[in-house]
Amino acid sequence: MGRYEETYRESIENPELFWGRAAENIDWTKKWDKVLDGSNPPFYRWFSGGTMNTCHNAVDRHVDCGRGNQTAIIYDSPVTNTKRKISYNELKQEVSVFAGALRDQGVTKGDTVIIYMPMIPEAAVAMLACARLGAVHSVVFGGFAPHELAIRIDHARPKVLITASGAIEGKKTIAYKPLVDDAISQSDHKPEKVIIFQREFVTAELNENRDLQWQEIIKTAAPADCVPVLATDPLYILYTSGTTGMPKGVMRDNGGHAVALNWSMKNIYNVDTGDVFWAASDVGWVVGHSYIVYGPLLRGCTTIIYEGKPIGTPDAGAFWRVISEYGVRVMFTAPTAFRAIKKEDPNGEFLKKYDLSSFKTLFLAGERLDPDTYHWAKNLLHIPVIDHWWQTETGWSIVANCMGIEEFPVKAGSPTKPAPGYDVRIVDDRNKEVPAGQEGNIVIKLPLPPGTLATLWRNEERFVSSYMKHFPGYYETSDGGYIDEDGYVYVMGRMDDVINIAGHRLSTGAMEEIISTHPAIAECAVIGTDDQLKGQLPLGFFILKAGVEADVEEIKQELVKMVRSQIGPIACFKESSLVKRLPKTRSGKILRGTMRAISNGKEYRMPSTIDDPTILDEITETLKEMGYPR
Ligand code: COA
Ligand code: AMP
Repeated sequence: MGRYEETYRESIENPELFWGRAAENIDWTKKWDKVLDGSNPPFYRWFSGGTMNTCHNAVDRHVDCGRGNQTAIIYDSPVTNTKRKISYNELKQEVSVFAGALRDQGVTKGDTVIIYMPMIPEAAVAMLACARLGAVHSVVFGGFAPHELAIRIDHARPKVLITASGAIEGKKTIAYKPLVDDAISQSDHKPEKVIIFQREFVTAELNENRDLQWQEIIKTAAPADCVPVLATDPLYILYTSGTTGMPKGVMRDNGGHAVALNWSMKNIYNVDTGDVFWAASDVGWVVGHSYIVYGPLLRGCTTIIYEGKPIGTPDAGAFWRVISEYGVRVMFTAPTAFRAIKKEDPNGEFLKKYDLSSFKTLFLAGERLDPDTYHWAKNLLHIPVIDHWWQTETGWSIVANCMGIEEFPVKAGSPTKPAPGYDVRIVDDRNKEVPAGQEGNIVIKLPLPPGTLATLWRNEERFVSSYMKHFPGYYETSDGGYIDEDGYVYVMGRMDDVINIAGHRLSTGAMEEIISTHPAIAECAVIGTDDQLKGQLPLGFFILKAGVEADVEEIKQELVKMVRSQIGPIACFKESSLVKRLPKTRSGKILRGTMRAISNGKEYRMPSTIDDPTILDEITETLKEMGYPR
């Protein structure tokens, strides 16, 4: 039996032994009573009864072990021309003082705090400071518009909101404070305090009585110690797109999360204490939570906070510069970033300028890694290019080529085999397993391993109905795919109305909710179409209300503006079309999947439940006029 086979088998057959052993690598203030508490399925709890502190494990314990002088965070910001190295000693100092400042504002264990920040070290400091106090953070991606921030404020009900005066996004300067003020004016819940990190290039005006400046409050704050919390207490809430305008608040606990991420750094990414690990993502996404902040710091690695883009800041050699300058061993990003580099520099001319001898493995995730991009990256870099599949909900890889356990030959188009802890199966709509090679719903047999979502914040009912109900005994991933005869998993795409734009997860349902508020529109549908650069892009269809005479081009422009201002520019909603009718089932469900297949030039089966098949001809014609498939 190979090493992977042995490890995997033990993790499935004896999860308590497997994860109990992994948990020995975390500092506990009190050891757990039970490794896995399965007394209330589908709510499984890891390390119940144990107490610990995530910030202690990510920061203080490295100082205690004598590694305080090692660099914890490298901040590299081509957009502001800044480079800064923060040692574990300095990080401990900054985090404990900022935690003290939060405590001065009344933040205590169990309180929620929203963090709306760009890619600066203070974002990580704010997260860790919350963890230090046992407060629950919810980071909101800086590219979301005020309306989206307001939804999260109302749901998370933060005592304090932490932000920065602004960001430089590519070449644009974005002032955050007006966005935050707008969000708070839209939300019913009002945070008691807003803490603003002032940046040099844009100064935020303060609202008296509510707003405080980060740089001021830390002057008088006394450092705060780590507060022990239960392993099962919440560490953070991360909102992610579902099929409606109301995002799902994925709740991550403390103990299982620390155990799983620490384990994953060595076993999946094959990095260890002292190695430089770089995830080029954003702290607002799960990749940022798990692999910019918590994973590398728990393992005692050096992590990089990069405030820039793969191209344009200043050029398509940006990634290579960072890798060579800091001796990055493993990098993790989204395939989109590589497609962007490939488009600008197809022959890899920029690469020739840099010494990449430290670079051992490239990991990609966030969207399907298309074979073209895989081959291009592999031929360019001559190192393993590893696709791995996971979701905000799971927090770490479900399927991966585990480089720290046993490297498997890559089959382009597959993220390889299930990671230890995940019992991955393919079932049909009646929850029956299908044979190898046959496509179906990808599900994971319960219990999920530690570090995965414990529940949805303040919504246990939705947790059950979204993930646990359709396929009893399994977690529903909402991705479709198959497993081949060799056990390789192929992930073919979402089965629901969630789309992936440049590795960003968005909801077509949320876009439809916005479009349908347009006074001239009777009905609409938004689908995800394939895009060579961003993986997918949204495309809207709308029907006008009877009797409305309007300038259609004007309406299209208005829709673009509405989605931009309510979800944000990252929704990339740029295109829509007027149609007379939308294809539906006899029960009235819009056939978005069929429309998506037509737009992508894929074969589709005429749905047996279709109400009027001629509408599909009309849609095909409209799409053809728009130049689809592209
Ligand atoms: N704050 C505010 N606006 C943001 C933003 C942020 N943090 N991030 C993106 N936006 C804006 C962009 O400025 C752009 O606005 P525009 O329509 O006015 O031009 C819009 O949102 C779309 O952004 P994006 O999809 O990032 O497109 P881009 O053309 O600027 O860049 C790529 C294209 C491929 C370079 C970029 O998408 C990228 O780096 N992708 C990697 C994604 C990634 O790391 N994903 C994380 C999961 S691992
Ligand atoms: P997010 O929660 O934003 O990480 O998005 C999760 C979704 O992205 C998954 O459900 C998949 O649809 C898609 N995804 C992420 N990684 C991969 C991958 N390696 N291959 C295929 N799809 C992926």
